Amino acid sequence: MPNKPLMNSYARHIFICTGRYCDPEGKAGALYARLAQLLGELGHYENPRRVKRGMTPCLGVCAGGPIVVIYPEGIWYHHVDEALLKRIVAEHLGQDRPITEHLFHKLGEEQ
Ligand code: FES
Repeated sequence: MPNKPLMNSYARHIFICTGRYCDPEGKAGALYARLAQLLGELGHYENPRRVKRGMTPCLGVCAGGPIVVIYPEGIWYHHVDEALLKRIVAEHLGQDRPITEHLFHKLGEEQ
């Protein structure tokens, strides 16, 4: 049996779609890179409130991007730009206050 990989605990995982169907202008890649800076302490490996980040080629929405989803809440944001990403980090990830006017779906809730 091969050794299991190791991973520290974390609180949330944020995914940014870099697909061209929802983001035809290709803005999401820069947002992903910027997110590493914006997370600051929330991105540190030893922080139990750590937020892992990932980019994906499609999240199955394919419009209104850049699309961002955050788990475990399953909260989805549309048309994310740098200003909104800053708010997501500060308010949603930093203070547990999702930005309701910019989300378009929440896991388990009808919209
Ligand atoms: S290309 Fe972004 S959700 Fe499908």
